[in-house]
Parts: sequence; structure tokens; C-alpha cells
Amino acid sequence: MCGIFGCILKEGSAAPLIHSSLKRLEYRGYDSVGIATISSGKIHMKKDQGKIDEVHKILDLDNLPGKIGIGHTRWATHGAPLKINSHPHTDCRGEIVVVHNGIIENFMELKSELQNLGHTFVSKTDTEVMPHLIEEMLKQNPKLTLEQAVMESLKRIDGSYAFAIISTREPDKIICARNESPLVLGINGKDVFCASDIPAFLEVTNKAVMINNYELVILTADGYSIKKIPDGRIIERAPIVVDWTAEMAEKRGYPHFMIKEINEQPQTLRNTLRIQDHYLDLLSTFLDRANEVFLVACGTSYHACLAASYMFSKLAFLPTFPVYASEFLEQCGKSVNIDSTILAVSQSGETADTIGAVTCAQQRAATVLSLTNVIGSTLTRVSRVYIGTQAGPEIGVAATKTFTSQLSVLAQLALKLAIKRGKISQDEMDLLEEQLQNIPEYVEHIVATQEEKIKEIAKKYAKSKVFFFLGRGISTATAFEGRLKLMEIAYIPSIAFPAGESKHGPISLIEEGFPVVFVCPQDDTHKTIIGNIMEMKARGAHIIAVVEEGDENIKALADEYIEVPKGIPTILSPIPFAVPLQLLAYHTALEKGLNPDMPRNLAKSVTVK
Ligand code: F6R
Repeated sequence: MCGIFGCILKEGSAAPLIHSSLKRLEYRGYDSVGIATISSGKIHMKKDQGKIDEVHKILDLDNLPGKIGIGHTRWATHGAPLKINSHPHTDCRGEIVVVHNGIIENFMELKSELQNLGHTFVSKTDTEVMPHLIEEMLKQNPKLTLEQAVMESLKRIDGSYAFAIISTREPDKIICARNESPLVLGINGKDVFCASDIPAFLEVTNKAVMINNYELVILTADGYSIKKIPDGRIIERAPIVVDWTAEMAEKRGYPHFMIKEINEQPQTLRNTLRIQDHYLDLLSTFLDRANEVFLVACGTSYHACLAASYMFSKLAFLPTFPVYASEFLEQCGKSVNIDSTILAVSQSGETADTIGAVTCAQQRAATVLSLTNVIGSTLTRVSRVYIGTQAGPEIGVAATKTFTSQLSVLAQLALKLAIKRGKISQDEMDLLEEQLQNIPEYVEHIVATQEEKIKEIAKKYAKSKVFFFLGRGISTATAFEGRLKLMEIAYIPSIAFPAGESKHGPISLIEEGFPVVFVCPQDDTHKTIIGNIMEMKARGAHIIAVVEEGDENIKALADEYIEVPKGIPTILSPIPFAVPLQLLAYHTALEKGLNPDMPRNLAKSVTVK
């Protein structure tokens, strides 16, 4: 996730407006900032790593000439958060200038093709292929207009993008394009704007034009024209009036960041499917060679590790040890050695307990691998290899989209390892790969079809004193996560166990009307979980079951049920099954009049031990 902004003004200079608009997009990332303008046929550019205010103090971002310009605030994905990787990026001659939000999947192929044609790259980003591609198109066919060269270049790009492009060749326009990454235009009868999100221009206009996938836009001082990619067909689209406040707009109309982030999951999961294969390959090679693998994390990230231990075992026949980071030193510290491998998982990459565990492992010469959502965080700096989980900044304190992104990456890693170890047939592999691609759509479907029902359940049970969450196998991790979400934002004491363990003590708590949430995918545990449901029912528990569509057996037993699409492979089930539990926690918190974005006593990043 990054924020892009561009504007063409009739009067005044563009840079101060780009600067203030980028500030409103800073929630999308703040690893670096850059602005480029055109004046007197020349590009003027300032960029550096760091938050916008920090960079402005040193560079004075307002001090660039010209009425036309583009800007970018970065959330690093490809390339560390350094000045060299900051946007905008240019072609070899510095005449074509590009800002980008998204991931160019085939950038490695394009980059080596362009390098073979003599192009010089200065950054490690995927974005930099775009200005060079446009340059190459224009070199090969000098008769092309900028718009045509961009269109031809887009035909070569696989992946997600919102681009804004300026060039000295046609200094009076901005060309933008969108596929999957958000792009919206603003107009006010005088000036024109393009941005990742409406808040960027809400101070200057409330008239917006939404841009759809595979659309290219030509912005000039006279207005905008939208064309379809790749055929250039003209699309007429009138502006809409947005009646949001700036704060509402930052949440894209959602009342809370948490629900916005729950709704972002189809997109963030799609992003995880774009992770470069060679990172998965490298990480799985380390795992394959390891003598023993510890999966280390805290809170929600620990639940992802717990699920991963089932994924690695079931798919790749690799036993792993999930360990709470805060316990790692005591539990495993002495046994860690040069043959140990630590896979640390952390959204923030800054959690003190996780960093502490990793440091201890490093001191004992173990190999440290990691998954984190924040490239450039401490964890990325201390890891031998890391993968970014591509969820974009998460603002709600309760982890939601970062959890499902972690699970998606871990499942891909387990799959890669299974292939490497020859533990999976071609048919199984094809099926899993296909199912992984379907998961974002399943999550979209769950939110669209189940939220109203979940609201009703939340209303009915919000006054409960205690909740139980039970699952078997990999769904134990989902149950643990459902419990944590409800507890941390709705303040309802909750208990989670593997369903089999519930008989060894916890069942004594059950009284008439006690809500018990069962996570019930149609996997090998299905028959046994029915037994566990019966045991709870017999003692008066109210059963809230999360089931696959068409699971009539459990639906008949449950007092309430929430459905997810059917046919989900076991190792992927925590992703769709976690989503209803996120919604349950969110709506229960609302029922109780609580603000789910700011649970008491908690912080987004826990940097103390
Ligand atoms: C719960 C939650 C926390 C974090 C935990 C670890 O919703 O967000 O439990 O998962 O503090 O944080 P990271 O993943 O940043 O290491």
C-alpha cells in the first residue's frame, strides 16, 4: 500500500498542495516521500526516506516550481525504505516520471529485458520498470504519443497498479492508470486531481470520479478523459458528489478502521498471491535444510504460527514448534543452536518479545527467517531472509487483515516446501493452488452474505459473561484467534481450547445458555467435532457454529450458524473461518458501545517486554 497524488492547477504552484494531500494519504504508508513537478519543460524532484514531516524539514517539499506535479508516500514492498527506492522513479534520461501503488509481478523479467536493451536501473523497486518501459516504447516508435506509449507499456505489465505519470515530452498532462490498486479523480471546475483515495483532495473538492480496473486516464488543465485498457475505448463517467468529512474519508466511509480492514481482506489476500516465487523458494529451502524449526510470535501472529505448524506438518511432513516469543528464551533458549531455524512472524516487526527471541537465537548462531508486514522494521534487519506480508498499514489495534495475510503466505510456504520435498502429488498441488486463488473471493462472499446474521448473533449474546471457542486440528488456531478478538475489543472473558481438551476440565463451566462457538470445516475432524457439539449441547450450551455451506448435520444441531463457502482445503480453512469471528468481535463491541479501534490498555505495537 502506498499513496499517490497528482494535480494540474490553473494558478499557483502544485508542490504545496501535493505535500498537504500526501499528508492525508500518510495512513497508506510513510517509509518515504517524493514529489516531482514540471516547469519550463524541466522536471523538478525532491524525495527521501522517512515520514513526510521529517523529509519536509530537510528538503522543503513546498519549494518546487510548476502548476503540474505528482507525489508519493511509500509503504515499502520491493526494495528497502531508502532514498534510492523512494518514488517518483524515472527513465534513463529523467524525462518520464512515475509514481505507483501496487505490485508489478513480472518486474524481474521486464527489468532484465530492459537492462539487456541498455537501460540503467538505480533502485530495487518493481516500479522502476515502468518509466523505462515507456522510454523503450517511445524509442522503438518515436511517433507514439505519451498516452499511447503508456498504453503499450501497460499491456506488458502483470500485477496491480495505480500509476500517475508525467513527462517533459508532453508537459501539460498527467497520465494515470488503474488495475486493482485504488485510483480516484477530483475536479472542481478549475483544477484536476488524481489520488489513491478521496481524503487527499477533499479540502479542495468533493466531486470525485471513481476509476475502475483496466482504465487509463488523461488529465489536462481542461479536464479528464477515461479510456479502457487495452483497446483505448472511450468511457464516459460523470463525477459524483461525496458528502464525507475528512475523517470519514480516511476510513473510506467505514465507521471504524477495524471494519475497513476486515473489508480490505479480499484485496490484501490477492496481494499475498503476488509474492515473488523466489522468496518463497528461498525461505522454503532454509526450512527444508533445518534440523528443527521454531515458529515464534506473539498474540495473533502466534495464532498464525500455530496454524502454520499444522500446514507444515500436513503438507510438507515437517514438524515445527510454535512458541510464544515471550517464552522462547525460557522454553527453548538453551536448546537452540547452529542447526536451529527460527521463523519469526510479526505484523509490526517491532514486537519486543519477538525481537528478543530472535536476538537470543542469533546469539546461538541459529538461522533467522521472518514474515512481517513492515519492510524496514527491526525484524527485517535481523533476518537472514524475510517475506513482506503485503497487507498495507493496519491501523485498527486488533489485527485482522495482517492475520489472514500471514496465513496466506504461510500456506504458500508450506506448499512450496511440500513440492520441494516431493510430499505432494501434482493433483493436490494444482487443487491447492487453485483454491488459494479462490480464497479472496470466498472472503468477499462471507462478508457480503453473513454480516447481517453475525450482527444479530452479536446482539443476542453481547451480554454473555463468558464465551467458549472450540475447534479441532488446524481450527484450534482459528478458535484461539476468535477468542482473542472478542476478548480484546468486546471485553468478554473468553476461553479457547482444542475441542478434545474441553472435556478435560473446561466443560465444568458450561451452564444453560453459555455460548460456545465451534469452528467446523468439513475436514477430517468433522465427525469428532459433532461429538463435541453434542457434549456441549447436552449441558445446555448455546451452539454458534461456523460451518461450510450445505453442512446440514451441524446446522441442525446449532442454535446459530454462520456459513462459509464449501470445499475449502484444511490448510486454508483458517483464512475464511477467521473472518466471521472478526466480524462477531467487531459487532459485539459495537453492541456494547465500545470503540473497536481503541481497546483499553492495548497498543498496536508492543515494544516493551
Ligand atoms: C491482537 C493483536 C496482537 C498482536 C501482537 C503481536 O489483535 O494485534 O495480539 O498480534 O501484539 O504483534 P506483531 O504481530 O506486530 O508482532
